[in-house]
Amino acid sequence: MAEYLPILIVGSIIGVFTLIFVIAFFCIKNKKAAIGYDRHMPDKEIISRLLVYAKPFWKDFVVVFFIMLLSIGHNILSPLLVGHIEELVKGQFQLSTLFALVAFYGVILLISLVCTYAQALILQKTGQKILSKLRLDIFTHIESLSHEQLNNIPVGKLVTRVTNDTNAISMMFTNVLVTMVKNCMVLFGVLISMLVINYGMTLVLLCFVPFVVLFTVIFRKFSRKAHRAVTDSRTDLNTFLSENLSGMKITQIFNRETAKMDEFHTKSVALTKARRQRMFVFGIFRPMVYMLYISTVLCLLYLGAKSYIQDFTLLGQVITSGTVVTFYMYASRFFDPIQTLAEQFDTLQSAFASSEKIFTILDMVPEVVDEPDAIDLPQIRGEIEFKDVWFAYKPDEWVLQGVSFKVEPKQTVAFVGSTGSGKTTILSLICRNYDIQKGQILIDGIDIKKIKISSLRRHFGQMLQDVFLFSGTIRSNILLRMEGVSDEEVMEACRYVNADSFITKLEAGLDEPVRERGNNFSAGQRQLLSFARTIIHKPSVMILDEATANIDTETEVLIQDSLEKMKNIGTMLIVAHRLSTIQHSDNIILLSHGKILEQGTHQELLAQKGRYYNLYTLQYHKQQLSQ
Ligand SMILES: Nc1ncnc2c1ncn2[C@@H]1O[C@H](COP(=O)(O)OP(=O)(O)OP(=O)(O)O)[C@@H](O)[C@H]1O
Ligand SMILES: [Mg+2]
Repeated sequence: MAEYLPILIVGSIIGVFTLIFVIAFFCIKNKKAAIGYDRHMPDKEIISRLLVYAKPFWKDFVVVFFIMLLSIGHNILSPLLVGHIEELVKGQFQLSTLFALVAFYGVILLISLVCTYAQALILQKTGQKILSKLRLDIFTHIESLSHEQLNNIPVGKLVTRVTNDTNAISMMFTNVLVTMVKNCMVLFGVLISMLVINYGMTLVLLCFVPFVVLFTVIFRKFSRKAHRAVTDSRTDLNTFLSENLSGMKITQIFNRETAKMDEFHTKSVALTKARRQRMFVFGIFRPMVYMLYISTVLCLLYLGAKSYIQDFTLLGQVITSGTVVTFYMYASRFFDPIQTLAEQFDTLQSAFASSEKIFTILDMVPEVVDEPDAIDLPQIRGEIEFKDVWFAYKPDEWVLQGVSFKVEPKQTVAFVGSTGSGKTTILSLICRNYDIQKGQILIDGIDIKKIKISSLRRHFGQMLQDVFLFSGTIRSNILLRMEGVSDEEVMEACRYVNADSFITKLEAGLDEPVRERGNNFSAGQRQLLSFARTIIHKPSVMILDEATANIDTETEVLIQDSLEKMKNIGTMLIVAHRLSTIQHSDNIILLSHGKILEQGTHQELLAQKGRYYNLYTLQYHKQQLSQ
């Protein structure tokens, strides 16, 4: 009995731990939610779609596979060699044989190192290529989404998709999948080698495998939940960050720093907590597998010692000291891959989750697309007609209700009306940023749905309510990557819209750096730059949304002057709150709650003594008072 005591002790310890684990697992409430089974795309579909990205590099993967085979040789052969050395030292010692064995060991070690290096090199290169293709695809796809679709996804989320998620996938190709294959091959090789050397000892080692499998299965359930929590908290934090960094000035102006910091702190703590929980799960699993490994080693040593003292045989096989040494080394080579496989399975799961998120974005069908018979329109005269247009951003919440008007080529038409009456909406419908639900919008008598979107938008120059400047230089912001335009032409455009007055005063002129969102320029200067950007692209129709809302009198005069000049270029649609800006328009359309209330020239509308008349007199008196 006493001789089985060590085995009994080891067995009881493992048994107790297993029991604790099983009980803990069955105690999880609502398993599906806890484990994070909320993926909708089947693994098979994800794999086949991912393979499309790996396919062009199949040759690289084949090369890596063969290199891997070579590097595995070290894992399988080195325990055998060390076992031989042990036998040699114990038995008939020959220095020359020892040298030969050590030299052989050195060679396979060197081969393994070189192979591992080459493999890492090839995989990194391939991984980066896959990554850049994925990033490009997702970015291009985001570009094709409609304004409505883009409004529905927070920018932070998109950034996470393009950076973190694509990275997770590339990691899977370069690291996880390859090590998984390698580990499986090592496991298989080690097993065969062990069986050949001593099947009795192999069976003893295999007795521990069911426990490893059990621990692994349970571990995976916990770790998946932990992983999911980390990714969700990270996306949440990214979204919060990207929004709040853009809006930091507002936070400062309204003195909300403390409140925002608290909010950020909560999210940051959530991420830390999620990471800690993940570490906790891994922290339990690793020692568990280590415990099994140590137990196995103890058993092997016990059997080895027993056979040394008592001439003991296991299933009719003698256990030599060389066998014990070899098995001791194999045991770690056997348990390590199992542990890594279990842990990497999780990374694989999270890569799948990332893939699903990316594919969900790639699967978003762009809402505003070219119809099959859409035509190219190289030139337009600039005639625009709305025929009983009905439009709603959200179902049944009509923003435009039966709007009809016509703009002749080269005319200037102004839209006025209270906030939220639908002015900006009308302008964005003309460029087909959204599709209308009822009615027709015609350009030169052709329905805009029948015109290719790129061809349609080429004819419009939009100067929006909120001018967006990219970081770069003044030149890059005016040209927006348009090629073949000389500096002289750029300056000419600037002169035309009076932007030269401030550009020439700048130290670097057109090369003056523009910081993110153009925050080193005033609102009026940004507006003038957007004018220059518009006219250099030579549009047939110019769209201007409230250009004169928030600028000083001096800049307003400049803008007024450039507007007058721009009217000569083509059709012009203006939204303005200051009626003085649009007095000379050919037609003024007054909107209220998405309907046209009045339309006509300034004089005609004044004569009607309706809403426009009231608005104008109100503004006129206000102006008189302020002077
Ligand atoms: N992307 C959107 N999603 C949902 N509703 C929107 C969206 N954009 C605008 N709206 C709604 O449509 C209505 C018209 O908005 P629009 O921007 O056209 O007004 P506007 O006349 O330009 O106002 P302002 O003079 O303040 O610029 C508003 O009630 C607004 O709430
Ligand atoms: Mg508006």
